[in-house]
Amino acid sequence: MSFDAAKWVWMNGASVRWDEATVHVSAHGLHYGSGVFEGVRCYETVGGPALFRLDAHLERLYYSAGVYGIEIPFTRGELAEAVCETVARNEFRSCYVRPICFYGSRSLGVNPRGCPVEVAVMAWPWGEYLGAGGQDEGVRVTVSPWLKFDSRMMPTTAKACGQYLNSMLAARDAASRGFAEALLLDAEGNIAEGSGENLFVVKDGRLHTNDERHPILLGITRDAVIRLARGSGLEVETRALTTEDLRAADEVFFTGTAVEVTPVTEIDGVRVGTGRRGPLTERMQRAFFDATSGRDERYTHWLRHVAAQPAWSSF
Ligand SMILES: Cc1ncc(COP(=O)(O)O)c(C=O)c1O
Repeated sequence: MSFDAAKWVWMNGASVRWDEATVHVSAHGLHYGSGVFEGVRCYETVGGPALFRLDAHLERLYYSAGVYGIEIPFTRGELAEAVCETVARNEFRSCYVRPICFYGSRSLGVNPRGCPVEVAVMAWPWGEYLGAGGQDEGVRVTVSPWLKFDSRMMPTTAKACGQYLNSMLAARDAASRGFAEALLLDAEGNIAEGSGENLFVVKDGRLHTNDERHPILLGITRDAVIRLARGSGLEVETRALTTEDLRAADEVFFTGTAVEVTPVTEIDGVRVGTGRRGPLTERMQRAFFDATSGRDERYTHWLRHVAAQPAWSSF
């Protein structure tokens, strides 16, 4: 991953050059993680670059902001335009997009009273999140010694900056032990999710995944995969996932905006199923990329095309 190709950032209402998109060191969000964000992917489609499920991501951004009492000083329509403008102005055909809203500089009391809400949208090219080849060959993961926090401690269905320290600890521990990613258990010992992805288990031709009764972020990719699976006649059950489910699984895969659909082929040194990407994982990958590319016309309503912006070519 590199930011080198990103030239423009949308910040508080206007596009600014990458180097000028700065924040003061006294920003509340820097000290306390008091912000909310989204990760959205833009895909090259038959009709040009398009954002995948932008409406759902903005819906979740405003939901997360609401949970934390952060009043975003822009409408959803304005932020949708900001996202499209950022992709278009950077002239990306496909990229990852990061809208973020956080408390800026005014005071450093833990209560952010009086702090302005700052809003930015960044975009940059981002390939396979868990390493090149991971989507074909699968990734090796470990069950983390760090537990996922409980929804009575922090709102697990909100995507908030400070909450990611839990994910960071787990991801770093996994990497330090040579694994691509961490799986976090909840306080009851059930599987919660990866540090930045949801989890599906395939058993006897059915998909199983957990839901908001467990401490997970309700992934938009997870929702897409559930709909795509059901739309193609597969059964999907939402229930607690246990470590026993992992041991007995025919296939396991991650879903997330960053990882898209990535097979998990080994957990703590134990092969999942055959130890290779399984047929239903591959089928869901194909269905997912048919939707993101616009090839499957049943799901083109999930795509928001980035209009060409010739007026900006003079910048
Ligand atoms: C902790 C966590 N769980 C799950 C997901 C997957 O969510 P989505 O599919 O909306 O990207 C993400 C990524 O956003 C995440 O950070």
